[in-house]
Amino acid sequence: MKHLKKLLAVLLAIVMMTPVLLAHAEEGETTLQFRKDGTFKIMLFADPQDDENLEETTTAILCEALDKYQPDLVVYLGDNTVADGYDNQYKAIEAVTKPVVDRGIPYSIVFGNHDEEHGVSKEELLAIYQSFGNCLTYDAAPEITGCGNCNLPIWSSDGSKIAFNLWMIDSNMYNSDPEVGGYDYVHEDQLAWYKETAAALTAQNGGKPVPAMDFQHIVIPEIFDELYVELPVSLGKLTEDRNGKHYSFLPVFTRLNGYWLEVPCPPNCYDGQLDAWLEVGDVIAEFHGHDHNNSYQVNIKGVDVINVPSCGCNSYSKDISRGAGLITLHEDDVTNYDYELVNMFDLALAKGSNIPNVEGGKSTAYYALMKMLDAVVQSMFKVFRVFYKVFPDGII
Ligand SMILES: [Fe+2]
Repeated sequence: MKHLKKLLAVLLAIVMMTPVLLAHAEEGETTLQFRKDGTFKIMLFADPQDDENLEETTTAILCEALDKYQPDLVVYLGDNTVADGYDNQYKAIEAVTKPVVDRGIPYSIVFGNHDEEHGVSKEELLAIYQSFGNCLTYDAAPEITGCGNCNLPIWSSDGSKIAFNLWMIDSNMYNSDPEVGGYDYVHEDQLAWYKETAAALTAQNGGKPVPAMDFQHIVIPEIFDELYVELPVSLGKLTEDRNGKHYSFLPVFTRLNGYWLEVPCPPNCYDGQLDAWLEVGDVIAEFHGHDHNNSYQVNIKGVDVINVPSCGCNSYSKDISRGAGLITLHEDDVTNYDYELVNMFDLALAKGSNIPNVEGGKSTAYYALMKMLDAVVQSMFKVFRVFYKVFPDGII
């Protein structure tokens, strides 16, 4: 009897913890669903940006972050692979998705500005992803700009309704207008598709927008209006000149809640994406990569805008901010989510970590130093938040 009780308890625990992937839609399709305990965890990997010989440290970071947090979904935030030609891109995608595929976790991807630069189209790349494990990204509207624009609904734990929604958006590559230049933006036809799809979800939800998050590679252009001070004139190299405006060289530090270690690189023009979110009223947060060193979190007109730092050890990045993002959604209050940065140094300092031992890894003393430095900076951010509450217009 005692053994039977134990067995039942174990079975119950397995049922409670297993990410539920029920077929609400077509047979064979994976459907995301809140766990019975009312949570849903999403792990974010930004800018691995590596080729077919994926750095061992990157693999270790991905594996150890997944084992520690056991997410229900992984999102790759773009600049995922940069290998030359089809065969190498195939191997690079196989390598970067392997930690997720081996653990049987469903995943989705968005494209960055670099993925398609190596002789393989996004459509071909997407087909490769779809051949590995449980890739949920699909090209919902091939006729619109970009590839892989789609939405992934998360069902309630009782399976009765769509409780949350995830937008995967292609923020494209480079602006084709030489007068504007810089990185591309989310195009009008993508926003029209977003509004139309969101309207259908709203109608299905009894007229209320389904709370949602947006995942894309490049940050929205309004980040400069939020983080920097607009100046009346250009001061040359002492100002950031973009969108026809002149911004302070340094950001308003009291608005930061996370690292600003490089100037953000949004499009050079407004694209209306933030306005579209505000009009529809569903997006509570946007997560992007692209700026590898940054991990700031700011709120722009009610939408949290969060830069997920690079998880990769091949391209540029800073060890103090490197890692993954982790979102925990709560079914009983979906707009009140938790977000944390899964730091590489914390993973490396955990018992049994491989990060210091693999090629490219550093000593535990080095990671301990990173952790100490980070603790100092994090207490500064706490002070910043108090200042921000008292002086919402900012103090540089
Ligand atoms: Fe990148």
